[in-house]
Amino acid sequence: SRRIRAVDLAKRRAEGRKIIALTAYHAHTAGILDPHCDFILVGDSLGMVMHGMETTLPVTLEMMIVQAQAVIRGTSKALIVVDMPFGSYEASPQQAFMSAARVLKETGAGAIKMEGGARFAETVAFLVERGIPVMGHIGLTPQSVNTMGGFRVQGRSEDGERKLMQDAQAISDAGAFAIVMEGIVEPVARAIATAPSITTVTIGIGASTACDGQILVLEDMLGLSDRVPKFVKRFGSLRGQIEGAVEAYAEEVRAGRFPADEHTYKPL
Ligand code: KIV
Ligand code: NA
Repeated sequence: SRRIRAVDLAKRRAEGRKIIALTAYHAHTAGILDPHCDFILVGDSLGMVMHGMETTLPVTLEMMIVQAQAVIRGTSKALIVVDMPFGSYEASPQQAFMSAARVLKETGAGAIKMEGGARFAETVAFLVERGIPVMGHIGLTPQSVNTMGGFRVQGRSEDGERKLMQDAQAISDAGAFAIVMEGIVEPVARAIATAPSITTVTIGIGASTACDGQILVLEDMLGLSDRVPKFVKRFGSLRGQIEGAVEAYAEEVRAGRFPADEHTYKPL
């Protein structure tokens, strides 16, 4: 069986199937997700989640490539989408193509994702025309934290709503195979997801159940991250499980109960 391709997401939607997506940065977790996800995003959230950065801005193309290679090695079915990090695509369509081509050549991923609305429509079209499937990302775009003045929910004003509609339309028209809608007030996200003129596949995160699919950051939904946005549902409680395991280990080492007989080697 071959990997899911970018173009397959539209077919899934046409069949009335929700699109399932999560992020992953590691081979082992990606392998666990693989049978359950249509696509796995190697998100630049790795800067915050893996490296403790305060924003995603310091993430480099090299970091994205190394983790994307790990995720590819750990998977065989899901489409792998790789985030373009801040500074690797905004200057020009040419810069975006060079960076995106590097990602596809060095990792074997099937698509890239880039943040931005109408202003990036030209870049999206430039890449798609040259063989690179592009996923858009509008609404709360973390790479714009400094100009947005924080991580702010989008679409609360009439102006904001109009701008989001235009952004979604422009990225859809430019040929993006899908668009992530993050941190958008529900009725606006719903309006975009159900607008007949917006034909691209919509993926929600803090958006609306009307989206064609949903995505969450894996560590957030597993209950591993200590602070999470309102839109995250914790489907697990890994933080507590890891704490419990580490405490039990420390206690057994101190008490001399670990390693036990079955964990030690006997002479021949
Ligand atoms: O970097 C990331 O994990 C993302 C998702 C939250 C969509 O962009
Ligand atoms: Na991202």
